Amino acid sequence: MEIIICPVADHVGQIAADKVAKIAAEVGPGVVLGVATGSSPLSTYDGLAKLIAEGKLDLSQASAFALDEYVGLADGHPESYHEVIRRTVTKPLGLDPSRVHVPDGSLGGLASTGERFEQAIAAAGGVDVQILGIGANGHIGFNEPTSSLVSRTRVKTLTDRTRQDNARFFDSLDEVPRHAVTQGLGTIMAARHVVLVATGEAKADAIAHVVEGPVTAMCPGSVLQMHQFATVVIDEAAALGLRLADYYKRVYDSLPAWQKLELS
Ligand code: GLP
Repeated sequence: MEIIICPVADHVGQIAADKVAKIAAEVGPGVVLGVATGSSPLSTYDGLAKLIAEGKLDLSQASAFALDEYVGLADGHPESYHEVIRRTVTKPLGLDPSRVHVPDGSLGGLASTGERFEQAIAAAGGVDVQILGIGANGHIGFNEPTSSLVSRTRVKTLTDRTRQDNARFFDSLDEVPRHAVTQGLGTIMAARHVVLVATGEAKADAIAHVVEGPVTAMCPGSVLQMHQFATVVIDEAAALGLRLADYYKRVYDSLPAWQKLELS
């Protein structure tokens, strides 16, 4: 795992965006992005938008696949991930909406939604770089604790913790859906690169488990230890639980200049 601890919390998004842009440049104009919802990746999307505005990145030919979608929200519901991705990713990054895919969370489509989404990813040639946040309980996408480490896109039941964490986006806890369609851990692991972003002390435990804990379905994000090209970009607060934080900083500092992103 590549672990980048940003001394300035506000720079996490730009560092993650630089990493994604570097990979996108290697792949070319048809890069396939994996995109996440939640507050963590928002600054990464801002960073990407800045690079686009500066003429350093062009995603107009890119495709994108979202990680997940709630089950059963009305079409156009502002908190459905179709809408969240449209607002926070498709529009600001100038993506072609016909190449942005979000799992179908409608009740009528549930039986085949996972299979259809997996086929769409395969038809696009797989995800080149997957942007990820992390839930306080270690979930990635909506792969809650005890998710199979080789799971593919399917319907999952949300934990009480996740529903409470996400209640801030709804008028009341009752309105938070109980189920979601999510890319599986196996689906996420098939992405060629993974860039996970987290900030703040509330994520410190989850990050400690993901980076230094045992690989276990009880902390789904820990499966990323088995990924060949996983990068974790965090601030000092999210790094508080890391036993080897000083070592990660030293490793990063000693990288040759061409491998480094500008940290301050
Ligand atoms: C949701 C999403 C995850 C996200 C998590 C953390 O549950 N399904 O993809 O990582 O929230 O969200 P936040 O970044 O807002 O803390």
